[in-house]
Amino acid sequence: MLLLLLSLVELARCQATTPLSLAPQQADLGSFDLANSLPPPAYSVHATTLAQLPPECAAVTPSTTLPSDIGNFSASCSAEMTALSVTLEDCDTPYIICRCADAEMAMDALVDRLARVPVGLRRYAGTVIALAATVPGPSAVTMSGASGGASATFCFGDCTMNVWIHEMTHALDMADPGSAGWQSSAIGWSNALAADTCVPDTYSQTNAIEDFAQVSVLLIYKLLNGGLPPGFYEDCMKHQLAYLSAMTPYNDSSLLFGNDCSIGPLATHSSPPDVLDPTRQFNSSGEGAAPDPPSKALGSGACRPATSTTMVLFLQLGGNCLLVSNINKLHLDIRSTLDK
Ligand SMILES: *[C@@H]1O[C@H](CO)[C@@H](O)[C@H](O)[C@H]1NC(C)=O
Ligand SMILES: *[C@@H]1O[C@H](CO)[C@@H](O)[C@H](O)[C@H]1NC(C)=O
Ligand SMILES: *[C@@H]1O[C@H](CO)[C@@H](O)[C@H](O)[C@H]1NC(C)=O
Repeated sequence: MLLLLLSLVELARCQATTPLSLAPQQADLGSFDLANSLPPPAYSVHATTLAQLPPECAAVTPSTTLPSDIGNFSASCSAEMTALSVTLEDCDTPYIICRCADAEMAMDALVDRLARVPVGLRRYAGTVIALAATVPGPSAVTMSGASGGASATFCFGDCTMNVWIHEMTHALDMADPGSAGWQSSAIGWSNALAADTCVPDTYSQTNAIEDFAQVSVLLIYKLLNGGLPPGFYEDCMKHQLAYLSAMTPYNDSSLLFGNDCSIGPLATHSSPPDVLDPTRQFNSSGEGAAPDPPSKALGSGACRPATSTTMVLFLQLGGNCLLVSNINKLHLDIRSTLDK
């Protein structure tokens, strides 16, 4: 975990890509893992293998080169690729995940991380394409579609929750084709950058788009834990945090962390679910900045299965025991669905 490398390469077509000169607070976001704050949903997942690969997945050949404006990133799959259609209970529009057989992330890990992304961000997701790492550590690319919105997110290697939130924020950023282009091109975001003296980390210095996505990772942590991760300070980037905090869906926890993807226009996933899972509602009222919970609570005597909604809320705020028990449940659910 200490060696976590967030090597992220992104599409920046048609958007300002000037490097930012604001000082980074940290080298990277590797000191915390949003998986500790974002438990998987308590419900089962409905997954079916697609008989045919969707075109965006079939297009990844052993020597595909993504458009040169993202640095000639090679998206290679020389093994078999499988595609899964995944329906989560907070949305009736299925998600498509394609996985190359040599990808580091197993299919159930991909479903697990996708499901943990708060619905207010996840509803913007394009097709997820998981491939083997091309550089040490995870990297990812989110591409915009021809008609706005994300067409696909490529994950190379073991993409952490921080990476997923980063990429889904790009999907959100692309989804609002306002007159100024992406949301990170809005004058309000430039003004926020001009009024601040720092950005989260060195990767945030890449440009206003990448900074927007990195600030989103910190803001999600803050909304769930009541304060920024250890080692990060608000003051020098308070305008960036304030700008994002006022934006949909960050400004409404009941939508961002809710149990319903049908909360507005412009998203690729917006069909209302049949059933609302009451446990999916996070309690983000804040308990003060909490230290990063221990990353391995497996086998800890303190762990108890969640038996009620109250317990679910409590455990989501206070620790990761629930998270561990639900990971197991989720994996079992996925396996039993897949085995059918
Ligand atoms: C991509 O490859 C082309 C051809 O090899 C090269 O001219 C171009 O500079 C590369 N672009 C980047 C961003 O590396
Ligand atoms: C969130 O911001 C949007 C504008 O982006 C606004 O329409 C909405 O009322 C805000 N919601 C809350 C709860 O403040
Ligand atoms: C959320 O947590 C706060 C503080 O722990 C508590 O006062 C509040 O009642 C909780 N809200 C819900 C909806 O459970």
